[in-house]
Amino acid sequence: MKPTNSFLTSTVQVMPPSGIRQFFNAAEADDEVISLGVGEPDFVTPQCAIDACTRALEHGRTMYTPNEGLMELREEIAGYLHTGFQLKYEPSKEILVTVGGSEGIDITLRALISPGDEIIIPVPGYVAYAPLVQLNGGVAVELELSAEHDFKLTADALQKAITPRTKAIVVNFPSNPTGAVMTEEDWLPIASLAAAHNLVVISDEIYAELTFGSTHTSIASLPGMRERTIVIGGFSKAFAMTGWRVGYLCGDAALVSAMIKIHQYTALCAPIMGQVAAIECLRNGLKDRDAMKQAYDERRIMFAQGLSDIGLSCRTPRGAFYAFPSIAATGLGSQEFAERLLREAKVAVVPGHVFGAGGENFIRCSYAASSVQLSEALSRMEHWLQTNTSAHQRQRAL
Ligand SMILES: Cc1ncc(COP(=O)(O)O)c(C=O)c1O
Repeated sequence: MKPTNSFLTSTVQVMPPSGIRQFFNAAEADDEVISLGVGEPDFVTPQCAIDACTRALEHGRTMYTPNEGLMELREEIAGYLHTGFQLKYEPSKEILVTVGGSEGIDITLRALISPGDEIIIPVPGYVAYAPLVQLNGGVAVELELSAEHDFKLTADALQKAITPRTKAIVVNFPSNPTGAVMTEEDWLPIASLAAAHNLVVISDEIYAELTFGSTHTSIASLPGMRERTIVIGGFSKAFAMTGWRVGYLCGDAALVSAMIKIHQYTALCAPIMGQVAAIECLRNGLKDRDAMKQAYDERRIMFAQGLSDIGLSCRTPRGAFYAFPSIAATGLGSQEFAERLLREAKVAVVPGHVFGAGGENFIRCSYAASSVQLSEALSRMEHWLQTNTSAHQRQRAL
């Protein structure tokens, strides 16, 4: 019998493909395109990590590791989180090394969701959360963040989204796509609400290192939050290790032991190459991390200002490596804007609507690209805007 769609679950049938990949694939297929589409460092992994991995492979380290990850790596992660973010986790039972932060998000949701549980997802937000909630039988409840509040999560908005069925909230600060960050003061009322309603907090802190002008505060570091928070972290962004597929999740042992079970049956372990490289990054790669961060910081200022100068008003992002300018003044929808910009100006950006409600009047531009590319992208965009938006719109835009 010929396979048909009817073999597939209705959840997967209605699930749209990632709106980011569409632009990534188009950019890959055309050398002339400047890609600001994908959330990936333009740097190569620190050389010390590449060397450590090469040596390990040459010594035949090609096997599985313990399910939880190499103990040396878990110890390094524990030290790193403690020094950098005031988080204390026990390497033997509270840290699980995962196949990127992505696996951490997935298995956390798998461990937590019972059918019909509501998971609050602040939007505009990372594209994977809602599909993963749905795949696990949960209900993704979008909570729209507003530009007026700098896309921060407020207690007021959270309170309105909570119902008796709410199980957890996913938070991601520094944020993809908005670049927003949350301070300790911002977190305090959120933490109180989470405790009052007995919510789990899934805190995706994959961009924790990339805050500019402030240090990252994890909600898990606030009093009473450790027991109800799962922290997701990884090496992809701050250490330019997207292809190595290594991340981690941390939390109270009672919760993490459940994720370890799921991970045992699904991933077995994260790739040993990535784990060896990650150990080396934490031991000897911090200066490389800091140099990359410095470069992002310079590009951030230059690019956000440049976008505003060409009429796409852009608040200066405080974290991650994304600018999220408004395109409202152009009168175009974000999908049309991004498709035409790609086709006509050969600049790939991501339309804001793919990040959920509240994204429609925005585009996401990754500034993890060289300054030369960013300047060229700005000048192509400026020229394109001048020739393609009406005089009236241009007036409003400028
Ligand atoms: C917010 C967020 N979480 C998680 C991930 C996945 O990261 P990883 O490569 O560690 O799986 C990404 C990647 O873009 C991201 O932006």
